[in-house]
Amino acid sequence: MAKLQWGMIGGGEGSQIGPAHRLGALADGLFDFTAGALDHRPEAGREYGQRLGIAADRSYGDWKEMLEGEKKRGDDAIDLVTVATPNSTHFEITKAFLEAGFNVLCEKPMTVTVEEGEEIVKIVEKTGKICAVNYCYTAYPMVRQARAMVANGEIGNVRCVVTEFSHGHHGDATDAENPRVRWRYDPAMAGVSGQFADCGIHALNMATFICNDEVEKLSADFASCIPSRELEDDAMVNFRMSKGTVGRLWTSSVAIGRQHGFVIQVFGETGGLKWFSEQPNQLIYTPVGGRTQIIEKGEGGLYPEAERLQRVGIAHPEGFPLAVANIYCDIAAAIRGEERKDLPTAAAGARSMAAVHYSVASAKNGGEWVDARPPMFR
Ligand SMILES: NC(=O)c1ccc[n+]([C@@H]2O[C@H](COP(=O)([O-])OP(=O)(O)OC[C@H]3O[C@@H](n4cnc5c(N)ncnc54)[C@H](O)[C@@H]3O)[C@@H](O)[C@H]2O)c1
Repeated sequence: MAKLQWGMIGGGEGSQIGPAHRLGALADGLFDFTAGALDHRPEAGREYGQRLGIAADRSYGDWKEMLEGEKKRGDDAIDLVTVATPNSTHFEITKAFLEAGFNVLCEKPMTVTVEEGEEIVKIVEKTGKICAVNYCYTAYPMVRQARAMVANGEIGNVRCVVTEFSHGHHGDATDAENPRVRWRYDPAMAGVSGQFADCGIHALNMATFICNDEVEKLSADFASCIPSRELEDDAMVNFRMSKGTVGRLWTSSVAIGRQHGFVIQVFGETGGLKWFSEQPNQLIYTPVGGRTQIIEKGEGGLYPEAERLQRVGIAHPEGFPLAVANIYCDIAAAIRGEERKDLPTAAAGARSMAAVHYSVASAKNGGEWVDARPPMFR
């Protein structure tokens, strides 16, 4: 089977998420890295692309040049482009590539407004192209196991989901003006929300993914603990899902002492589940009235949805880049025409962005409960 051609925009040298995409896309021999516009500085992007092995004529200075260059290649163009630039650019780049007939993996948040999210969903419907959103945590094998356990009734109807994504890496006020940190709290670059759009959005999407449900309404409290920040660095969001599940979410970037801090607990009528990103190979399960158990990646009896994503044996760590690789595996399968129900879609991107957007409105109105859904899904 011929390898697919992959390109990336953003993810330049020193970027946070670029290496995870390169490791993820190339991990399973499904893609070749054949094109890129990797940096906001054209020369730096061209030079880095070539150092990574991209041919000089496909190591582009910016994404518009890349779009034109790849369009001209016809059947020999990229099969997938990853958009790994700062948030405010996602919509424009994703829209342009989808409309030109390319498949896209867009970093979260997919857009910065509700309307843009809806527009991407409509473009995907019209073009039939794949637009996945990099909710990569949903692709850990034990997260897929949790989703399958909920779907198969192993914890009964879900009463409550509690999730946190809180770290302390932006808690140093003396580092607040560092450009890599600053853009995340600058509305011109990040959009309407800081920490919630950056990390909380993963937690919110994860709640919907594991419970196979949608957030219907929410109430939010936002704070900028470092006062020079225009956007929030700490948020608490209460929500309700369509099947009545109660949701609680805390996200913070000033929680000094927290390293990664993404945890989700799902409490059903007959059992509870807990998954923690710092111990991603384990899922904690407690049946009502029974003993707490650790379910390990690699052991027998897992659901096929989890089993198919394991590459190395039990107790060997499989970490973040391989979760990203699982997203690329699912996209490759989808490009080849297979159905992949667990792939995070543009609709999921639009829903979670809308929830972020309406949280901002709720927080401004003293935590008023608001509809969390994009109008197209009401
Ligand atoms: N899925 C995840 O878990 C995850 C984790 C981290 C970041 N992200 C997302 O990835 C995106 C990038 O975040 P980051 O932390 O890597 O940021 P970063 O600031 O570390 O890196 C951004 C990179 O994009 C390049 N860039 C900026 N504008 C560009 C443009 N117009 N054209 C080409 N390249 C451009 C920069 O030169 C840099 O190389 C954000 O949307 C962020 O939310 C997702």
